Amino acid sequence: MPEYTTVAQKADIPVGEGRAIEVAGLKLAIFNADGEFFAFEDRCSHADLPICAGRVTGSLLICPWHHAAFDLRTGCAVDGPANGPIKRFNVRLHGDAILVER
Ligand code: FES
Repeated sequence: MPEYTTVAQKADIPVGEGRAIEVAGLKLAIFNADGEFFAFEDRCSHADLPICAGRVTGSLLICPWHHAAFDLRTGCAVDGPANGPIKRFNVRLHGDAILVER
């Protein structure tokens, strides 16, 4: 049975931006794409740098460091310099709370 943990409130994360949130030792980056929320491990697959300061453009997450692009729905790299995916977590909303599957 999947277990979901509350990690933030919707109002904590402006549209198009991300926030770093640590839950039980796990560093997450949560992004707001026009009111839809996505969660990833806060580590880019290119150079292991935090991706929480990335920006959302359409269906893509752009890394702030070297501008690799990742598909928000899958975490797959769609434009270099990253080759591999970033780890994605399932997200659920409950009222104003953002919950992440762990
Ligand atoms: S660390 Fe993300 S593109 Fe280089």
